[in-house]
Amino acid sequence: MTRAQVLEVIGSDRDEQATAALIDFDRLPRHVAIIMDGNGRWAKSRFLPRLEGHRAGVESVRSVVETAARLGLEALTVYAFSTENWKRPTDEVSGLMGLLKLYIRRELRTLQDNNIRFGVVGGLDGLPKDVQDELRRGIAETSQMTGLKFSLALNYSGRSELTDVVRRIAVAAKAGTIDPETIDEALIERHLFTAHLPEPDLLIRTSGEMRVSNFLLWQIAYAEIWVTDVLWPDFRRRHLLQAIVDFQKRERRYGGITSATGKA
Ligand code: FPP
Repeated sequence: MTRAQVLEVIGSDRDEQATAALIDFDRLPRHVAIIMDGNGRWAKSRFLPRLEGHRAGVESVRSVVETAARLGLEALTVYAFSTENWKRPTDEVSGLMGLLKLYIRRELRTLQDNNIRFGVVGGLDGLPKDVQDELRRGIAETSQMTGLKFSLALNYSGRSELTDVVRRIAVAAKAGTIDPETIDEALIERHLFTAHLPEPDLLIRTSGEMRVSNFLLWQIAYAEIWVTDVLWPDFRRRHLLQAIVDFQKRERRYGGITSATGKA
């Protein structure tokens, strides 16, 4: 990448430029998925309510969406609300729902201006009606965009997604529209929320936890996992750039044999 291109993508921060210069733009991950964690700890360390951590986390979402679009990534999916998160205190849940609505209201224009197609991965129908309406508006009004596919995973869990896929395929088999003998991986993939996306090749998790937390269980089968101690509200462009640089240093084998050593 030339210095002019780096500047165009990254802006004037010298450290970010230096990191961006290490990226091979011909080998970008196609789909980056992020488990955003540590909002609560970020707030607690500042003696603030948890919701302030989520509010600050929205800024990090803005930053990574903008960076992913500028880099030319194909897809970005962030885990914003799991099916387990309903167990949190009601004021935290309603606060998060409010942030979602606000996010679409405030960001829709920017998403459109950056040719970003917005989507939801998860049980949209299970969200409060006013939040659904706002999200559906975001989906509809960006449906013609051809750049980054940006998805919020909401009311999502990998196990419930797979359970639902099994149920739907079983119903079709019972009705005689699917022959059980023809069930293969491609058929299952077509039933996932992510059917329109490439599978994630880079999974980022913040706040140092080494877990996948029920996120895209089928889809991350071969994803490279990159964990940082940075708490989500502190995550910015430079962290995403570093994750991509490190991703490109890894050799991906998909269960095959490494070219360097000949070992499996
Ligand atoms: C995990 O931190 C974070 C969440 C459960 C929610 C993530 C939500 C946002 C970043 C804001 C909403 C996003 C948009 C785009 C409106 P945690 O609360 O589990 O943190 P902790 O482990 O430190 O307690």
